[in-house]
This record gives sequence, structure tokens and C-alpha cells, in this order.
Amino acid sequence: MDKFVITGGKRLEGTVAVSGAKNAALPAMAAALLTDQRVALHNIPRVRDIATMGRLLTHIQADVEIPEAAEGAVRIRTEKISHAEAPYELVRTMRASVLVLGPLVARTGYARVSLPGGCAIGARPVDLHIKALELMGAKIETEHGYIEARAPAEGGLRGAHIVFEKITVTGTENVLMAATLANGETLLENCAREPEVADLAALLVKMGARIEGAGTATIRVEGVGRLGGAEHRVIPDRIETGTLLAAVAITGGKVRITRAEAAHVAAVISKLSETGAAIDTFEPGTLCVEGSGQAAPADVTTQEYPGFPTDMQAQYMALATQADGTSVITETIFENRFLHASEMTRMGADIAIEGRRAVVRGPSRLTGTAVMASDLRASAGLVLAALVARGETVVDRVYHIDRGYERIEEKLSKLGARIRRVS
Ligand code: EPZ
Repeated sequence: MDKFVITGGKRLEGTVAVSGAKNAALPAMAAALLTDQRVALHNIPRVRDIATMGRLLTHIQADVEIPEAAEGAVRIRTEKISHAEAPYELVRTMRASVLVLGPLVARTGYARVSLPGGCAIGARPVDLHIKALELMGAKIETEHGYIEARAPAEGGLRGAHIVFEKITVTGTENVLMAATLANGETLLENCAREPEVADLAALLVKMGARIEGAGTATIRVEGVGRLGGAEHRVIPDRIETGTLLAAVAITGGKVRITRAEAAHVAAVISKLSETGAAIDTFEPGTLCVEGSGQAAPADVTTQEYPGFPTDMQAQYMALATQADGTSVITETIFENRFLHASEMTRMGADIAIEGRRAVVRGPSRLTGTAVMASDLRASAGLVLAALVARGETVVDRVYHIDRGYERIEEKLSKLGARIRRVS
């Protein structure tokens, strides 16, 4: 198992480019199941979750090409589907596998997808995906750990009025994909407004879908008989962008972040600015960030987009340990997403967890030690803490970080960080 060995204390300086968004790339790949034509996707990050989605689509009998070089387009063609199934072995390693449920049942009338089960950050049920597909006429049974969905034999899925009880990102994406091939109009309310949802809709529209309102809380879809091939470039990764911004803020460095989309990280920019970082978004696609040397404390509450992302909470916590005063971090999206706090405490941070609130008292003098990554973003938080810790930190289980950050150690070391991967 790989580890990162990080020696803290270096300011980050230079220029770094953001990769494509993992959480936009995964639904885009699943969307390729909706057509028998070729879908070509650009800016797909070469991270482990993308390889897992590639394996899943191959299992479903799609022809998947993922060239090694990130510049090469990922090409997917699913001429026919003879195996409409997402097996436990793959869903277990990546919950986003559930994204094939909507496309499979819409295209073939049948899908068998393993129930994802809980994960490190919370229970994470998929009941809202299931309820919405039921409203579209699907008969769904869950047995032996699998969701089995069948569209009505006559006419397939039909348009429906769906009001999500709670905002769900992949739930919105799953149902949006299913609705593109349903009979009649689907009206989706209380949808996730994440840029990844809007990006998926942009791809679906290129494939011939009729969608209005994606990126807002209300999405209207007029089902069509078939979808065709398309070529699409996925959006930059806003969580990688935010992670890099926080890394510069915490080390007090000065960096140009290119191939980014500032509008997608507005809440992060505003919070980091409150802590004293100077962030300039004047040049389109580029963010110039300069750390203040001494961060000020600022409370933060995670929210659905356009609020402050839960996927940036661990990285922000690392910064809060260095702020001069108390920051209260409230996590509203997942019930158990403070696992990194105990590892940061082992590094010398002063963090008290009270239910969904973490009270972080800074500035703490962090020192390097061996820490364990528990999930993707928690690992990123630990890497950031290690960048300012005195001495050497060994971050174990970096396979978590490899799920969603493309060559993070190369990017950080080009900016001057002392970080290396050991096997
Ligand atoms: C997406 O997960 C992201 N994953 C997550 O990114 C991200 O943390 C999350 O959205 C929130 O922004 C992908 O896009 C692939 P949700 P998702 O459904 O869609 C509850 C990362 O690190 N809920 O929006 O699974 C759920 O338990 C990952 O890249 C139900 O109760 O999240 C949670 O409390 C981790 N029933 C809340 O809603 C449901 O049917 C929001 O979850 C669905 C969700």
C-alpha cells in the first residue's frame, strides 16, 4: 500500500493546472449507456474512480477506451447491453457505481445494482433514487443486497412529477438520465444545483435530450425516443481547485491555479478570503492566490451548492488549525465526516467534536507523525496539515486520495512541497 512522506514547512509557489472534475466525469461516463453511439469525453482525470467506472461499463458490455495520457479522450460505445448489472465487488469500492441504475433501466428496461451500504462518512442510503424511479413506473425490489429495477413492459419508464425530499447530487443525476428516455415530461423539484449536474445535462443535450433548468432547483425533461453520440469536455474539478487554494493559504505561499472555474468555487474563495488569503480571479480560467502568513479564524457551515462544499470541510479544518483564534465548523451534509479530526489532533491540533460541530482552536504547532487516511477528502485534509507540520508526516492508505486527485504529489512537489510517494 502506498504512503506519502511529507516534510512540512515549505511555502507553495508557482503555477499548477486543475484536472477535470471526477464527480462530473463519473455521471458523464454512465450517460454513455443511454445510447448505442460513441460518446467521447475530454478532460477526464486519470484517477482510480474513473478506472473503476471503466471496469463497470466494460462489465455491462460497453466498449471503453481510456488512454493513459490525460489529454486523450475517453471513448465509450455501448452497442448493446447484455449484462445490465453493477456487481457488489465494484459498488463496494465506489458508491458512484449507482449512477448506472437510471441509464440501464431507461435504456433496457432492467437493471440490477448492488446496494452500496454505508461508508466511512455516513449511512448514505439511495432511497431517493429508488423512490423517484418508482414514480416513473419502475417496479423495484431489493433482495440479496441488490436493487432490481424493471420498467413497465408496455412503454417503458414514463414522465413523472418528482419532488426530492432532500437534495441529492447523484440522485438528481440518476433520475435526470432516466428521464431523458422516458415517455412524456418529467418535472424534477428540489434538485441538486451542483455544477456537475449542469455539466451532465449539457452532455445529455448534445446527445439529443430535451432538458431545461439544470443547475437550478427545478429541472424539466421531455423524454425522447433515442439519444445519439456526442463529444464533451467535462468541467474543471472545483474540489481540487479548492484544495489547492487551501494548500496555498495554509503554507502562506503564492500560486497561479490555471484551467479552473472561479464561479464554481465562489463559496470557498469567500471563506478563504475571510481568513486572510488574497484571491484574484481577474483572468478567466485562472485563480491567483496568496496566503496571508497568519490566517484569521472564520466559522463555516457545509451546505449544498452554491454553499460551502462538504468535500472541502477536511481541508478547511487543516487551515483552521493554523488560524489565530477559534473556528467552528458545522457539517450538515454527512453525519460522520470528522474522522480526520482525530488524526489532526494526533498531529497537535486542538479540535473538539460536538455532534455535527467541530470547534477548532488555533494556531496549533503541528508536528509530523504517522496518520491514516479514512476517505478521499479526509486524506486531502491530512496532506494539507502535513504541509505545515514540523518534521515528517507519513500519510498511510493514500489509495483513498488516488480515488479522486490526479497526481496530487507531483502537482504539490512542483509547487515546492516536500512530498514523495513510497510503496
Ligand atoms: C455526491 O455524493 C458526491 N459524489 C460526493 O463526493 C459529495 O460529498 C456529495 O455529493 C455531497 O456534495 C459524487 O458526485 C460521485 P448526496 P452523493 O446524495 O450524491 C442523503 C467525494 O469526496 N441521501 O448528495 O452520494 C445522503 O446520505 C464524494 O468526491 C439520502 O438520504 O451525495 C447525504 O446525507 C464523497 N437518500 C445527503 O443526502 C438518498 O437517496 C446528500 O447526499 C440520497 C442521499
